[in-house]
Amino acid sequence: MRVLISLLLFTSLLVEADEHDHLYEVDEEVVLWMNTVGPYSNRQETYTYFSLPFCKGEKKEIGHYHETMGESLLGVELEFSGLDIKFRTNTKKTVVCEKKLTETDYKTLLYAIQNSYYYQMYLDDMPIWGMVGEIDNTVNPPAYKLYTHKRLDIGYNDKQVVDVNLTTDGRVDIRPGAELTFTYEVQWSKSEVDFTKRFDKYLDPSFFQHRIHWFSIFNSFMMVVFLVGLVWMILVRTLRKDYARYQKEDSLDDLDADLGDEYGWKQVHGDVFRPPSMPLLFSSCIGAGYHVFTVAVITTILAIVGEFYTERGSLLSAAIFVYAACSPVNGYAGGSMYARFGGRHWIKQMLLGAFLLPSMVCGVAFLINFIAIYYHASRAIPFTIMLAVSAICLFVILPLTLVGTVIGRNMAGSADYPCRVNAVPRPIPDKKWFVQPWLITLAGGVLPFGSIFIEMYFIFTSFWAYKIYYVYGFMLLVTIILSIVTVCVTIVCSYFLLNAEDYRWRWTSFACGASTAFYVYMYSMYYFFFKTKYACFYSKLLRKIGQKTKKKTKKKIDFLAVFFYGRKKKKKNCAFQSIFNHFMLKKSL
Ligand SMILES: *[C@@H]1O[C@H](CO)[C@@H](O)[C@H](O)[C@H]1NC(C)=O
Repeated sequence: MRVLISLLLFTSLLVEADEHDHLYEVDEEVVLWMNTVGPYSNRQETYTYFSLPFCKGEKKEIGHYHETMGESLLGVELEFSGLDIKFRTNTKKTVVCEKKLTETDYKTLLYAIQNSYYYQMYLDDMPIWGMVGEIDNTVNPPAYKLYTHKRLDIGYNDKQVVDVNLTTDGRVDIRPGAELTFTYEVQWSKSEVDFTKRFDKYLDPSFFQHRIHWFSIFNSFMMVVFLVGLVWMILVRTLRKDYARYQKEDSLDDLDADLGDEYGWKQVHGDVFRPPSMPLLFSSCIGAGYHVFTVAVITTILAIVGEFYTERGSLLSAAIFVYAACSPVNGYAGGSMYARFGGRHWIKQMLLGAFLLPSMVCGVAFLINFIAIYYHASRAIPFTIMLAVSAICLFVILPLTLVGTVIGRNMAGSADYPCRVNAVPRPIPDKKWFVQPWLITLAGGVLPFGSIFIEMYFIFTSFWAYKIYYVYGFMLLVTIILSIVTVCVTIVCSYFLLNAEDYRWRWTSFACGASTAFYVYMYSMYYFFFKTKYACFYSKLLRKIGQKTKKKTKKKIDFLAVFFYGRKKKKKNCAFQSIFNHFMLKKSL
């Protein structure tokens, strides 16, 4: 079994195909891989290239298996184009294949053109994009044209491919029964571009290294300085004042011990080290948190060093690898904390800690995968990869977490708290509204979110729009800033809570930092509905097509439209409607 697993790991993470040395001789075959098609307005929705009725060339097939795990998890599924391309050998306009459009083919193509579908290909790992067709609005009714000719201009530098341009042409009207002839043409030219710089043309420095980005980093940095100073000042001054007060009371204590009107954090000294409610879950969360933070920092550093954007899926592969390798951190932090709480179900804790995050991520991925399979999207993750992921969880993450837990329990598992914990929990006094744990929690996330939301904007933009995120240096800086701000805010929050004589600071301080995620989630929603082109894109078009689709579907659409925003508001906030319309239509096609 072990052998099998290591083999699996090996093949999924470390395999290098021969295409990967990127060196070609004259006349050597250069493979053009077809990747995906999808609507231009939503980069995350993709289908396999041949799900549209394109035809393949005569040339023998080369099957592309998923080279890396990251690749297949990202839904990269390459298919051989069938085009015969030879290194530094020009090819005149050649017929790839001919095809007669059936009624279904016509409908599918029409749908694709109406929705501005584009396709993506890879040549020697360089991505190429092209539109499927275009709408000619100059005539009435609009004509739908399909591009049937591809011209590839490839630049070479010595033995390497350094530049690719695609020009599409050969526009033909589509109609059922039309005879289509797909053609291609390859033109090689010498290029001065250096091989290591060949990805530079895909990057967008004017966007990512814009003044605003630098400015926001600077801003966040100033906020950190300010905040640290503030926290320092408040804590030192207030604590000194508190100490002075307590000292005075102590000297009076000789007479009537403990009868003075003490208040504030000193009152809870017998309770602060009481284990939180649900200690098992709490220590697992803490362990997972340490784990994620370590992985985030290491992966970001790797991404800075390794220029991962030049290789498909390598960031994800690296992240999975680092995550597995860092599992002892999880076990150590979670296990030792649980031991300090005096927990006895340490195996349960370890299992929960090890699988808390993977199971959540896999659960969400499974759900999305299910939807993807339903709509035949190319994002569907193959079964073998799911097996491999489970194998990594069971045979790598679990044992490593066990090691960490055992070490943690033995090295840091004894609780040497400075105060004894009272046998009977102190009742929590009534508090003013502004020191309720939930309010502190919610307020605690605002500042950390404020320090990262500009970076989130850049990340979301590269996720939804066609931009490669490559400024991982910024990301590392922002991660560090975020952690410092979170620490400061959490300290202040805990102080407020303890001062209100509420000793349940553990969960509150955890949630205080975690609430940042809530704001990020809200922001991602906002971004999706108001900033992506996806929202509202279809509405006009769909009303037109809606008349043609089956009555039943239309009813469903109407129902959903009413359900989500009432019948009257038809123009504003059409995001929900357009998404549902989109799915409904696709099903009915
Ligand atoms: C591709 O297009 C760019 C921009 O138009 C041009 O600078 C470059 O030379 C072209 N490359 C080839 C190989 O034709």
